[in-house]
Amino acid sequence: VSERTDRDPLARVRAIVAAREAAGLRRTLRPRPPHENVLDLAGNDYLGLARDPRVAAAAGDAARVWGGGSTGSRLVTGTTELHAQLERELADFAGAAAGLVFSSGYLANLGVLTALGGRDVTIVSDAGNHASIIDACRLSGSPIAVVPHRDLDKVEAALATVDTPHALLVTDAVFSVDGDLAPIGQMHRISRSHGAMMVVDEAHALGVVGEGGVGAVAAAGLGAEPDVVRTVTLSKSLGSQGGAVLAAPEVTDLLVNTARAFVFDTALAPSSVGAALAALRILLAEPDRAASVRAVARALAGFLTPLGVRGAPPAAAVVPVVLGDPRRAVDVASACLRAGVRVGCFRPPSVPPGRSCLRLTACADLSEADLDRVSAVLASVLA
Ligand SMILES: Cc1ncc(COP(=O)(O)O)c(C=O)c1O
Repeated sequence: VSERTDRDPLARVRAIVAAREAAGLRRTLRPRPPHENVLDLAGNDYLGLARDPRVAAAAGDAARVWGGGSTGSRLVTGTTELHAQLERELADFAGAAAGLVFSSGYLANLGVLTALGGRDVTIVSDAGNHASIIDACRLSGSPIAVVPHRDLDKVEAALATVDTPHALLVTDAVFSVDGDLAPIGQMHRISRSHGAMMVVDEAHALGVVGEGGVGAVAAAGLGAEPDVVRTVTLSKSLGSQGGAVLAAPEVTDLLVNTARAFVFDTALAPSSVGAALAALRILLAEPDRAASVRAVARALAGFLTPLGVRGAPPAAAVVPVVLGDPRRAVDVASACLRAGVRVGCFRPPSVPPGRSCLRLTACADLSEADLDRVSAVLASVLA
């Protein structure tokens, strides 16, 4: 018996968790009950559709028709007519030539960047990009150039000095913690001038940015451009679960053939497909929801300005409150919850060290009375 097998097999695991605890970075799960008297500014249900009776009914209907699971991967038995319907309607909504549903937004990013990347493709990636893009870049095997956040000169310089035959520029449309908008139009001009592909993650933009929530790419008039590939999640504005890619049919064809996150994964459950389809149709019929969520976000930011913790007006639904120290962020978030308002709390590694923050996410169906309550709570805990 070697010395290693004599040791406590969980000693290293406990040490890692203890170190996180000591640094104020330990995370735990807190199951929520079905009903609670709390205003939720932490979730991503931007349009208030997750519990809309029409969305919930569509999930149930889809499960009754197709079953609780999709029964297989997309290329075997997992592609139902409902998946194909959602792909068509999502693409039409966002002005894309084709759509392809994945099991999550995370997997959509993994699939796109591994399929479009490779050793012969340098990926230029914004420093503020979501963790799923960072992981996807690593997995792609591409040389990676990380450029400072929203720095167009650095994007230009990175693409100008690429020493591989191909290049790809990847950015969040709305950055998930800072809530700011990428300069999509300018990035695309630079990307195209260097013959690069551009991948835009619209997770926080779909349903929020642009007329009727078409997203940042369509709002910039780039929906049908063959060199622009979009990833979206179905789990935020669309109140469901899953992800999708919106792109030229050549790109979705490549993904069906080579994206391992698509090929080797069981297809999204029919209930999630049905729920997303119902939510999309509601958004089409009630396009003002997108403007409403943006107005709520501006109201939230307005409460923070006099408290000295917030500057620029938000571009979408995400309103960050940078507090710096992780323990202070946890304490303030706990105080908000005790006062009946749940806010998001972000600490390293989700944000860089020294940038721990609260994240308030707007929801289109918050009433004036709800907002008054939020304003009073924020004033008391941040004073
Ligand atoms: C910018 C961004 N991209 C991708 C994802 C992943 O999407 P999903 O939750 O559907 O896996 C998220 C968050 O969940 C996100 O914030």
